[in-house]
Amino acid sequence: MFSRIFRAPEGDNGAAPTADAPVVAAPTVTHGSAPVGPTKIAARDVSVFYGGKQALYDVSLDIPDKTVTALIGPSGCGKSTFLRTMNRMNDTISHAKVTGRIEMDGEDINARSVDPVLLRARVGMVFQKPNPFPKTIYENVAYGPRIHGLASSKSELDGVVEISLKRAGLWDEVADRLHSPGTGLSGGQQQRLVIARAIAVEPEVILMDEPCSALDPIATAKIEELIDELRERYCIVIVTHSMAQAARVSQRTAFFHLGRLVETGDTEEIFTNPRERRTLDYITGRFG
Ligand SMILES: Nc1ncnc2c1ncn2[C@@H]1O[C@H](COP(=O)(O)OP(=O)(O)OP(=O)(O)O)[C@@H](O)[C@H]1O
Ligand SMILES: [Mg+2]
Repeated sequence: MFSRIFRAPEGDNGAAPTADAPVVAAPTVTHGSAPVGPTKIAARDVSVFYGGKQALYDVSLDIPDKTVTALIGPSGCGKSTFLRTMNRMNDTISHAKVTGRIEMDGEDINARSVDPVLLRARVGMVFQKPNPFPKTIYENVAYGPRIHGLASSKSELDGVVEISLKRAGLWDEVADRLHSPGTGLSGGQQQRLVIARAIAVEPEVILMDEPCSALDPIATAKIEELIDELRERYCIVIVTHSMAQAARVSQRTAFFHLGRLVETGDTEEIFTNPRERRTLDYITGRFG
């Protein structure tokens, strides 16, 4: 764990920090030097249009496996739009059009032969607001494995539910009330339940769109701890508005601005020595 002071990128001609624009202390990067896995998802020249309006411009980005990649950037820059291209959730928006190529393990995910429903089991998604089904805790987790035929008996299904809740760090808190409604849990517990639901179908990738923004600091810390554990098994992509969170949980960071990918690299590098002035300005809170 370390912390440094930002300095301007090399060759930067911008004004030196003044009393009005002080040098800002970098968030502490906890996992910056952790090794990253091989490329899991490769995006090439991905553009997204909503009707006549272009929201993403030619984004090319490699997302490594067994790694947390943070997508950061000001509101409206296209983070959620890009996240949705990775499990074809933009298909569900009638006026959205995606161009370019996205490969997972070398396979074109937009190919006709790919069933988007199966793809979304392989590439799970967790949203800002926890969205458990109006069912019991058990049923929330059992639903996916059941419809995908991942358990052949009741006891096997029980096992999947238990291990998923354990991996999501929720088992100890709910083991004695599996048949109570999922919506009766606290916000932080609901978010871990939704993560258990995503895990239950044995995904390879988990996409998280601001998963902690509706949670208090204690629930946030739990989810961050969980994300750090989950990265051993999964490829994780997280959108966050919290620079401190990006620095704490991710090994790779991609900075978006106005629909373009400005810069990507190791989180440690992005937070201590970004190449682009816009990145520096954003992470030091000068805009956004
Ligand atoms: N369903 C939609 N229909 C039309 N325009 C959309 C839709 N979703 C997003 N947009 C537009 O696309 C652009 C990118 O939006 P997106 O939601 O991806 O940004 P974001 O970076 O996730 O922002 P935030 O941080 O506020 O969540 C914005 O201009 C937004 O208004
Ligand atoms: Mg968003």
